Amino acid sequence: MMKRVLLATSGGDCPGLNAVIRGVVKRAAMEGNWEVLGSIQAYNGILWEPTEIKILTESTVKDIHNLGGTIIETTNKGGPFAWPLFNKQTGQWEYVDRSDEMIRKLRLMGVDAVICIGGDGSQRISHQLYEKGLDIVGVPKTIDNDLSATDLTFGFRTAVQIATEAIDKLVTTAASHNRTFIMEVMGRNTGWIALEAALAGGADVCLIPEIPYDVNKIIDKLNSKYKRGRGYAIIVVAEGAQPKDGHIVAEKADEIGYSNMRMGGIAFELSRQLKEAGFEGDIRETVLGHLQRGGVPVAYDRILATRFGVKAFELVKDGLFGQMVSFKQSEIISVPLSEAVGHTKFVEPDSEIVHAARSCGISFGD
Ligand code: F6P
Repeated sequence: MMKRVLLATSGGDCPGLNAVIRGVVKRAAMEGNWEVLGSIQAYNGILWEPTEIKILTESTVKDIHNLGGTIIETTNKGGPFAWPLFNKQTGQWEYVDRSDEMIRKLRLMGVDAVICIGGDGSQRISHQLYEKGLDIVGVPKTIDNDLSATDLTFGFRTAVQIATEAIDKLVTTAASHNRTFIMEVMGRNTGWIALEAALAGGADVCLIPEIPYDVNKIIDKLNSKYKRGRGYAIIVVAEGAQPKDGHIVAEKADEIGYSNMRMGGIAFELSRQLKEAGFEGDIRETVLGHLQRGGVPVAYDRILATRFGVKAFELVKDGLFGQMVSFKQSEIISVPLSEAVGHTKFVEPDSEIVHAARSCGISFGD
């Protein structure tokens, strides 16, 4: 008898999503009695009328392992527990819980199980759906690498590679003009991308949320890089970095079906702080932004994503629901969704990697 598994990619996109999809589809094809469906834009595809579902076959996923983005699209707005509905009488948007209806729809469609590829917020939803009786498996994704339930998430290595290449490019222009460049990278409340890119790119200063900075300490470091006005420096700053006694640069983003703190802008804020504190060098700012999430995933991410996809399908096949795949000590394992969500993995200020960075002369501004 044919069985059906439905895939959804949820939250911000991340290089490697397509490799996960391909891994699931190819592994399922080996069984011969599984059909794989993709719901367009996370769960919207099921909740929309008419539904938007794509049948994913081996030919649909041919050659997508090196493709950025997700062939079944994604969204970080709404979701089955908070579906935005416009109330014409009040003129306000309201949120309705459509999770029961969604589970009913999935059963009517003959879906036996769901695999949700998403970050922390999406896996919270997976856990809630599991508690409501849906047979679901999670696959973690984020370029931020900030989930404690897994040593690594796919997409992170690609983001670090992109940021490192950006530093390499900034160095040549910085050196030519005797300038200081501030390069802002993503990472939300953690400094993993900043730290690894700073190490790989040989930056002079690395500012991360886990180590609040003192602007005068940064200036000391910058001045040491100049002799009689000539020299250059590279500062890598994580979007969530903040000064001692200061605050994160973020604004409330309230879109329909989405409410979050949108981070970004610390590069310009830091530039202002440096000038105000007396730094005399020429400063330029670069915000890498979504470039870090775009394009071709590096080989490591394709491999990790493929392994996650294969494991996720095998959990489904073996009936091990309520689990999230995870990479621990070089092994692909699974952990209960209940333990997987809500635990952020921060950079440890006393860790070996921070020590290595300091040993190579990188200042954390502390
Ligand atoms: O979590 C991944 C991430 O890229 C963060 O690093 C960043 O702060 C955020 O998503 C950006 O989200 P959006 O695509 O909604 O602007």
